[in-house]
Amino acid sequence: MQHLLSMKDYSKEQIEQLLALAMEIKAHPAKYAEALKGKSVVTLFEKPSLRTRVTFDIGINKLGGHAVYLDSQNGAMGKRETVQDFAANLSRWCDAIVARVFDHQTLVEMTKYATVPVINSLCNLYHPCQALADYMTIAEHHDDLSKVHLAYVGDGNNVTNSLLLTGAILGTTVTAVCPRGHNVDAQILKEAEALAAVSGAKIRVTDSLDDIEGVDVIYTDTWVSMGDNTPLEQVKAVFMPYQVNQALLDKTGAKQVLHCQPAHREWEITSEVMDGPASLILDQAENRMHVQNAVLLTLINRDIH
Ligand code: CP
Ligand code: NVA
Repeated sequence: MQHLLSMKDYSKEQIEQLLALAMEIKAHPAKYAEALKGKSVVTLFEKPSLRTRVTFDIGINKLGGHAVYLDSQNGAMGKRETVQDFAANLSRWCDAIVARVFDHQTLVEMTKYATVPVINSLCNLYHPCQALADYMTIAEHHDDLSKVHLAYVGDGNNVTNSLLLTGAILGTTVTAVCPRGHNVDAQILKEAEALAAVSGAKIRVTDSLDDIEGVDVIYTDTWVSMGDNTPLEQVKAVFMPYQVNQALLDKTGAKQVLHCQPAHREWEITSEVMDGPASLILDQAENRMHVQNAVLLTLINRDIH
């Protein structure tokens, strides 16, 4: 049984296979209109979502499958019944489980009792479906991901972790620029460095924006992630120098900008940049659907080597 909890469990070849299938589905959707016929997927969310909820639901529909959405009340694993019973019951009815959870351990626990693939649609540590969509979007503009320099600017979080790990596997140069006290998790950094040693990727962390001159792509995310109730206003002073704005694009020479969204306009990114010519942000949101469809097809059909 193959799950998708973190991209670190996947090889370079497997990730490239997923990205290629996603591009193929995007280019020829009609060919895949019945690819999940008769299959059902449960998507359950302990946290809010727009993109993930909608892209899984509509994406599954476009493949001829059926999606069942469980909200935080009905998806409250470990409250009404154990994660074990939740996973075992769902496995008797559906062909895959997509779960957005607070604690990564909940996903690990699910994989012990699920007999169908479990797909992480965001947890405290990772956001693998997002990273796949991000590298797919970059690949639409760059033939060779090993020649790309991607800079992540902002809070070191789940999105940063998945970008670093996936880039490290794919051979991409990834620099995370985070203010002091908001750095990338030390253990994740170690894991990314170990993967980079194999692929030839360069993984760097810094708190200085002077270190990302000449980058190709700049990526940012919210300064306060879901589950952390710190008001944005409270972290503004620390993060404002790291805002992704036109001056930063001019300084670094970056030609493309990504943001996983939801975005806080005029905080981590200006509207000028978000709506400007460098922005690939809506392509990135669209690509969530194509790449998740590639994941579902691959895992449900056990077509992964
Ligand atoms: N990027 C992302 O996962 O968006 P949602 O939280 O809206 O699903
Ligand atoms: N880092 C953000 C990503 C949202 C898609 C969060 O976890 O809230």
